[in-house]
Amino acid sequence: MCGIVAITSKGGGGGGLALALVERLSRLEYRGYDSAGIALVLEGANASQSIYRARAAVASRSLDELKKHLDSAPAGLAAATTGIGHTRWATHGRPSEQNAHPHLGCATAPPGQAGQAGQAGKAGEAGAPRAYPEVAIVHNGIVENWRELAGELERKGHELSSETDSEVVAHLLEEELALTSSSSVAPAPPAPSSPPATLSPLAVALGRVAQRLAGSYAIAAVAAGFPTIAIARRLSPIVIGISGDAGGGTGTVMAASDIPALIGMADRCFVLEDDEVAELNGTAGGFVVAGLDGEPRDPVEITVRWDMEQARKGGYADFMGKELHEQPQAISDTLRGRFNTPEGMALDEMRLSEDELREVDKIFVAACGSSYYASLVGKSALEHWAGLPAEIEIASEFRYRDPILTGRSLVLGVSQSGETVDTLQAVRLARQGHAKVLAVSNVVDSSITRMADGVLYTRAGPEIAVAATKTFSTQVVAFSLLAMYLARLRGLLYPEEVTRLAGDLTGLPALVRAALDREDEVRKVAEELAERRDLFYIGRGAGYPVALEGALKMKEIAYLRAEAYPAGELKHGAIALIEPGTAVVAVATRGRLWEKMMSNISEVKSRGATVVAVVEEGDAETASYVDRSLYVPPSRPLLSAAVDVVPLQLLAYHVARARGCDVDRPRNLAKTVTVE
Ligand code: AGP
Repeated sequence: MCGIVAITSKGGGGGGLALALVERLSRLEYRGYDSAGIALVLEGANASQSIYRARAAVASRSLDELKKHLDSAPAGLAAATTGIGHTRWATHGRPSEQNAHPHLGCATAPPGQAGQAGQAGKAGEAGAPRAYPEVAIVHNGIVENWRELAGELERKGHELSSETDSEVVAHLLEEELALTSSSSVAPAPPAPSSPPATLSPLAVALGRVAQRLAGSYAIAAVAAGFPTIAIARRLSPIVIGISGDAGGGTGTVMAASDIPALIGMADRCFVLEDDEVAELNGTAGGFVVAGLDGEPRDPVEITVRWDMEQARKGGYADFMGKELHEQPQAISDTLRGRFNTPEGMALDEMRLSEDELREVDKIFVAACGSSYYASLVGKSALEHWAGLPAEIEIASEFRYRDPILTGRSLVLGVSQSGETVDTLQAVRLARQGHAKVLAVSNVVDSSITRMADGVLYTRAGPEIAVAATKTFSTQVVAFSLLAMYLARLRGLLYPEEVTRLAGDLTGLPALVRAALDREDEVRKVAEELAERRDLFYIGRGAGYPVALEGALKMKEIAYLRAEAYPAGELKHGAIALIEPGTAVVAVATRGRLWEKMMSNISEVKSRGATVVAVVEEGDAETASYVDRSLYVPPSRPLLSAAVDVVPLQLLAYHVARARGCDVDRPRNLAKTVTVE
């Protein structure tokens, strides 16, 4: 997940500001990143370079690489007082130096890509030459309307040099700043001796740009000649920190996407709310907050009592706890920008044409572990909406048999990491069989995405705990998107139905949040189960993969023997193991097979099992049949897995914690399995 750091201080960094930015970025490394960059405003420098930028894209070594760049930095860097930095987790465009932030506008783009630094000469809309002030921006979030904005900018003569959605912000900002400032290039506002009461043209311009962006953003921007940093926010967090005697104008003012970057430097912290812009003024030692329209707002102060380790985990005890609670946001991010596009729906890098996809007569899915279970959920969506037969295969089995593949087969390789060797080999086999290949992955430019003809990304952000949580639920969502996409192409869903389903999907994060809100109730049940050795999980229909995923969580982090069965299959053998006191976890939400499920619950109860069931809120009837109820809000059948899995994730998590297990790093397991 991307990270932002911005610092402006009164006295200059003594050469240290660039290093301070890199050091503060390193505190965000736990979020995962694939490239990094910084930009500093050079004071008193000549117009050929008023903004210094350095970027590196060597995965987790990018910050070290940035430090090396600083050895050959221009002399003016030592006096710089204002700068921004970014660690990037790719969402639009592969991880590369070219795509790394900060992004510049035309005025500061490198030779050959656009106009030279500080030069006039880009064509204005009416064909007149226009000079732009030099700007640099960093951005977290997703600009959903970036294609449209990029087209508009290109028509005005801007040259965009990256594949990112973020770069449009830099070009829009230089346009706005040219209009907002009284002089067209590098306006320098007078340095105030106390916090500025009003916004400078830089912050005014950023507010105007932000109003044009659809989607989510946390942005920090600098411009040549401004000793200030403008920031703006919608849906992506950004926190302001001040140190020293801010009111007296002697301190440092900073902003960051995450609190760890501020700890040890900021004495007081403030949050920026949605649709607000702020201007940080190091010279004056303060900041001003306003709405995007420039109307002043009161800053909201927060109390930070976390130490560094707590802050890295967002205040949670461990990464798994944090990631569990990130699911609503991860689902929203995975859905963002998919609907209402010019084509109707947008997947990420669908290099397969609509005609090629219409030819598909069968889908194979190869995946492992949780990705396999999410794919089992996806099977129903593919068959129900897209009307295509779908065979879901464990990747390590698929690759060693002789599947009947043709040019009309579509093979999906589903892997959050994109590096699981079994899944990669399955995709290789698919390629040899001349099938079309689509990757579903959480990591941009991972091996599987490079091998595939098309890619659908889950945008869950980095998952650090070994146990998959938010990547499972976002994979379920990704399958729904894919099934709808194929259904549209095959003429099986009318636009109104797509709109209705899109509405259901958009409502999913709130349902997942409601399920998470019942964590305390789940914890109590977990404490009762913590001393068991064996558990059975049962489910039917979409409840069966949910039971499989719940049991896998219990095995991998709590080390309990947890076996999942299709509920109707128990009586064919495994029911022999049920005896008084055996714990059975049942997914008993009100699906099509609810009555059958209740019969299966009766079968185990009559043999003395203690039944813990996932039950819909308000369903007193089911609750009265079972011993313990884990409540979830009702949800649409083909999407319910993302909601119903939540109490089972929480159950495993709290059983593991009650048993004193290391939930983030379970024994014998690796996050990415690169061996056969
Ligand atoms: C899930 O909790 C596991 N850590 C594991 O089963 C995982 O889902 C599996 O190894 C597949 O990984 P992938 O999605 O990165 O390919």
